[in-house]
Amino acid sequence: MPPNADAASAAFPGLGIVDLDRVILALADALDFIGVDEIGHGHRVALMAALCADEMEWPPERIHLLLQAGLLHDCGVSSTREHRHLVNDILWEGEHAHCERGCLYLQSVPLLSHLAPIVLEHHTPWAHLRHRGVAPGLALDANLIFLVDRADAVRARGVAEGRPVIDVLRRYEGSHFAPELMAVFHDIAQREAFWFYQEEPSLRERLRERLCQGPPVVLNIADMRALATMFGRVIDAKSPYTERHSVGVAAVAMRLGRGFGLSRQTLDMMEISALLHDIGKLRIPDELLDKQGPLSADERRRMARHAFDTYEVLRRAFGDGPMAQWAAFHHEYVSGQGYPFHLENGSLPLEARIIAVADVLQALAQRRPYRQPLTPPEIVAILDGMVFGGKLDATVVEAAKADLDGCWKDAIAEEGEDAAS
Ligand SMILES: [Fe+2]
Ligand SMILES: [Fe+2]
Ligand SMILES: [Fe+2]
Repeated sequence: MPPNADAASAAFPGLGIVDLDRVILALADALDFIGVDEIGHGHRVALMAALCADEMEWPPERIHLLLQAGLLHDCGVSSTREHRHLVNDILWEGEHAHCERGCLYLQSVPLLSHLAPIVLEHHTPWAHLRHRGVAPGLALDANLIFLVDRADAVRARGVAEGRPVIDVLRRYEGSHFAPELMAVFHDIAQREAFWFYQEEPSLRERLRERLCQGPPVVLNIADMRALATMFGRVIDAKSPYTERHSVGVAAVAMRLGRGFGLSRQTLDMMEISALLHDIGKLRIPDELLDKQGPLSADERRRMARHAFDTYEVLRRAFGDGPMAQWAAFHHEYVSGQGYPFHLENGSLPLEARIIAVADVLQALAQRRPYRQPLTPPEIVAILDGMVFGGKLDATVVEAAKADLDGCWKDAIAEEGEDAAS
């Protein structure tokens, strides 16, 4: 164990209060990245649904639920291609897959499982909901998300706000949208303010005000781990080549961190950082992420941006503390030649150096579009080369080499297996 093994955790200020709605708002920013150039969809859906619910004088708890559901309704979409379909087509044949995925993700997080039924039904036509006898309250909640979701999609296709959007959606009244919701939307969407609210900075300010009104729902470490695991799955689902990457990186980082004698609290925090280290990748178009061959300067810049975007999302979720930094520094080099902050070894916390090694090791152990998974000896050769080149920390790499079999198994273990002993 190196002498500074637990230095970062000694200075660690503790978790502080982590509020569920603040975390939802921050993670919704990451989901909205998937729109690439058309960002803000989840935020607009949440605010439009709340404004319609205000008109119907729904109780505050129900509106709060709609705000959360609106922000997270597209959590089943990781791919920018699928997102484009959802925005460019009013109705789309494959649309239900993302509802089912989103529902499964939300069911895995106890504090969000109440949103799962709404997300499952948020593309189900009104006539089907009624035919299937879905509970009236749930049917209306889900159908309201559907209606405003499609309003945003129609507007994004260039249809003018106000009457033209209403006219497109009215064609689906009764079949896809509940007449009573359509009537409310018909009234409210004629007001200019309804659309002005959806522009920045009003959009984010209104959502923050409305969502964070009540007493905070304070997350404990288990809640945070469940949320981070769910978002790790969202990130990993972006490409078949990154399947299990985030969970594998977290498992390897935990194994290495235990070897360095990190405290339980530091390990917990590092696990969450590792699960979310690539959340900024949600902004990278699929075509670029899977591209084979050299990248242009602009493409390299777009790729490099993901660690910065991770920093911004995690800062908003958990504050500008170690968790955001450990995650955001995973492409920094000990030489100072990494990106995007160009930090040198002295300012790179041990946890960040561990996540950086775990990130490389997991990626090498996994198939990529341009190569097969590498064997442990091949991985060692590359890790050694990266130490020699000033990229990775020598002490952490030595620790990984000393426990290579365990690290390799953790990196590629199937979900649900007891990867970490
Ligand atoms: Fe949507
Ligand atoms: Fe990364
Ligand atoms: Fe990564």
